[in-house]
Amino acid sequence: MLGKYEVRVSLAERSYDILIARGSLQEIGSVLGRLGLSNTVGIVTDRHVAERYLTRIVRSVKAAGFRAVPIILPAGERSKTLRSVSKILDELIAAKFERRSALIALGGGVIGDLTGFAAAIYLRGIPFVQVPTTLVAQVDSSVGGKTGVDHPLGKNLIGAFHQPLAVLIDPDTLTTLPKREWVAGLAEVIKYGMIADEAFFAYLEKHTEALLRRESGPVAQVIKRSCEIKAKVVAEDERESDRRRILNYGHTIGHALEALGGYRSLLHGEAVAIGMVQEADLARHLGICSQEVVDRLRGLVRAAGLPDAMPKVSFNALWQALQHDKKVAHGEVYGVWPEQVGRVRIAPLARDACRRWFVGRGARSGR
Ligand SMILES: NC(=O)c1ccc[n+]([C@@H]2O[C@H](COP(=O)([O-])OP(=O)(O)OC[C@H]3O[C@@H](n4cnc5c(N)ncnc54)[C@H](O)[C@@H]3O)[C@@H](O)[C@H]2O)c1
Ligand SMILES: [Zn+2]
Repeated sequence: MLGKYEVRVSLAERSYDILIARGSLQEIGSVLGRLGLSNTVGIVTDRHVAERYLTRIVRSVKAAGFRAVPIILPAGERSKTLRSVSKILDELIAAKFERRSALIALGGGVIGDLTGFAAAIYLRGIPFVQVPTTLVAQVDSSVGGKTGVDHPLGKNLIGAFHQPLAVLIDPDTLTTLPKREWVAGLAEVIKYGMIADEAFFAYLEKHTEALLRRESGPVAQVIKRSCEIKAKVVAEDERESDRRRILNYGHTIGHALEALGGYRSLLHGEAVAIGMVQEADLARHLGICSQEVVDRLRGLVRAAGLPDAMPKVSFNALWQALQHDKKVAHGEVYGVWPEQVGRVRIAPLARDACRRWFVGRGARSGR
C-alpha cells in the first residue's frame, strides 16, 4: 500500500518497529496478537481522544481476543502528574494486571509519557505500545523510550527510560488535530532537517503548502523520515549521554521561553521554533554558521506559520531560565549549534558571549 512504512528502532533486545499506515488504528488488535501478550490490555487515553478514537480501538482489541480496560484522563499537560500515574496504577491493580498484561498509550505526548512511566514502574515494568495521535507524538515523543511526568517545580523532572514494544502510527488521526497543534508539530519536523538531513529540509521547503493542507502523501513521508532520524539517533545513544543531545536543538532557548511564559503562552513546538531560529542566530554570532543558514531556517519556520521572534524578556531572566534546563553541565549551558542545514555541533555557551549576542540582537531585530 502506498504510504505504508516500517521503521526499525535497533536497541538490541529492546528493539521494536514503528508501523506507519493509514487506517491502522483498526489493526491494533492483530498487532497486539503478534506480540505475545497475556489477555488483558489497558487503554490509557484522554477525553478528547477517547471521544474520537476509543471505540474503534476497543473493538479491535476485543476482536483479537483481549480483555480491554479503558482508562480515561483529563486532556492537557496539567494531567502529566504523579497523581495521574497513581490513578492508572489503581486501575491496573483493581483489574489484576500481571507481568505480561500490556498498556496502550492512545493520545498525544502527554498520554504517551504518562502511560510509558506507569508501564515502567508497575510490577517493575510491563510492556506498552504507543499509539500516538498528535504530530508531536508521531514524530517525536512516541519513539525513544523517554517516559515521565512533571513536578510543580519543573517539567519532566520525574521519569524513566522504558522502550515501547511497538509504535503504531495512523496518520489519519491527524486530520482531527486542531490547526495550532498541527503547526506546532511541524517545528519538531523542521528540527530533524536541521540536525541531520539537508535533503529532508529541502523537501519541507518544497512541500510546505501541501503539509499545511495535511495532504496524506507528504504527511506520511514526513512522519517516516522523522521517525527514521529519531530512531537512528536513539539507537546510537539510548540514554542521552552524548549524541542524543542533538535532538535538543532549539530546546535550550525553547524550554527557557516555555518556563518564562509559565507554560501558558506558547505551545512546546512554537517555543522550539523560536528557539531554533534564535539558537541559529547565536551560532552565527559565534562564527559557527553563516547568515544564510539563519535566513533559510527562518524562511521555512515562517512559511509553516510558526513564530520566530524572541518574546520580550530580559537577559538576566533568560540566562536564569537557561540554567534550569536539564542540559546544564558544570555551570555552563550546553547548546546544539547548526554548522549547516543538516549538521549540528554540541558546545558550551559562556554567559558573556550569550550576553553580547543578546544585546546586539536589538539592532538586527525585524529580520
Ligand atoms: N518522551 C519524549 O521524548 C517527548 C518528546 C517530545 C515531547 N514530549 C512531551 O509530549 C507532550 C506534548 O505532546 P503533545 O503536543 O502531543 O500534547 P498533548 O498530548 O497534550 O496533546 C495536545 C492536545 O491534542 C489533543 N489530541 C490528541 N490527539 C488528537 C487528535 N488526533 N485529534 C484531536 N485532538 C487530539 C489532546 O487531547 C490535547 O488536548 C509534552 O508533555 C512533552 O514534554 C515527550
Ligand atoms: Zn520537543
